Amino acid sequence: MSTSISTSTSTSTPTSNITSTANATQAKSEFAVELIDLRKSFGKTEIIRGSSLQVRPGERVAIIGPNGAGKSTLFNLISGRLNPTSGEIFMNGQRIDGMKPFEISRMGLARSFQVSNLFTRLSVFENIRCAVLWSLGYRYSFWKFLADLTDANDRADEVLKMIKLDRKRDVLAMNLTYAEQRALEIGITIAGGADVILLDEPTAGMSLSETTRFIQLIREITVGKTLLTVEHDMGVVFGLADKIAVLVYGEVIAFDVPDAVRANPKVQEAYLGSVLADENQAAGH
Ligand SMILES: Nc1ncnc2c1ncn2[C@@H]1O[C@H](COP(=O)(O)OP(=O)(O)O)[C@@H](O)[C@H]1O
Ligand SMILES: [Mg+2]
Repeated sequence: MSTSISTSTSTSTPTSNITSTANATQAKSEFAVELIDLRKSFGKTEIIRGSSLQVRPGERVAIIGPNGAGKSTLFNLISGRLNPTSGEIFMNGQRIDGMKPFEISRMGLARSFQVSNLFTRLSVFENIRCAVLWSLGYRYSFWKFLADLTDANDRADEVLKMIKLDRKRDVLAMNLTYAEQRALEIGITIAGGADVILLDEPTAGMSLSETTRFIQLIREITVGKTLLTVEHDMGVVFGLADKIAVLVYGEVIAFDVPDAVRANPKVQEAYLGSVLADENQAAGH
């Protein structure tokens, strides 16, 4: 029913709704990300069917659920790649549904994709620096750009250390190992200094030992930031997440601390029961 709010009237004024306007500067929302009764249909098929979620600043939230449940779609809605059919999305108290992806990104949200988006023929350093420069925006004069370039170089080196690729600084991205490429992608994602980070299956395709190291890396670089991550590996989920959201057929059927989610009969029935059984079987139990 409702259409997305328009941002076309002004380029500089943040979009606001009636309730948040009065308090926009004084009271920051208690939630870094808030979804209210979000819905998204493709054609006649409703894929996101009334999802609500409240993520506090600094929380690490894992989103789990069967294939096709709508996890990536949810990320596309939050990051502005898709507009919801109805419902509301807030980031730090500001309504963002209807905004353009770059506007949401400028507000401090960064996301990674399930598919790789590296510049394979650029060096590790250059990949990060592109991301830093991009985050600074294009609307700069040449002189400002040169000044920013020094800052961008420093920031790029800082990010390289964080993702532990400083020793691979001048290697072409195509010559990195798979796990290093995924680390570089995380570096690109966080390069702009976003404080809300969405990672879509960051450990997909990794071996167990790579996954373990990678999760430690994610833990380190997201300290003090809000993290939403889609993850299949239940070991990873239970080790990393402060809270778990279980998405089944476009609905959040549970959102709680890991132990509570594990014990939730609804979750057992809809998803976890079969996943844990599969894992036990794979482990030979
Ligand atoms: N752009 C799109 N157009 C039509 N259907 C889509 C589109 N994106 C996703 N879907 C459908 O929405 C459902 C959920 O997809 P997705 O969000 O990728 O699930 P998940 O990430 O949980 O595996 C799937 O059935 C998928 O085919
Ligand atoms: Mg997906």
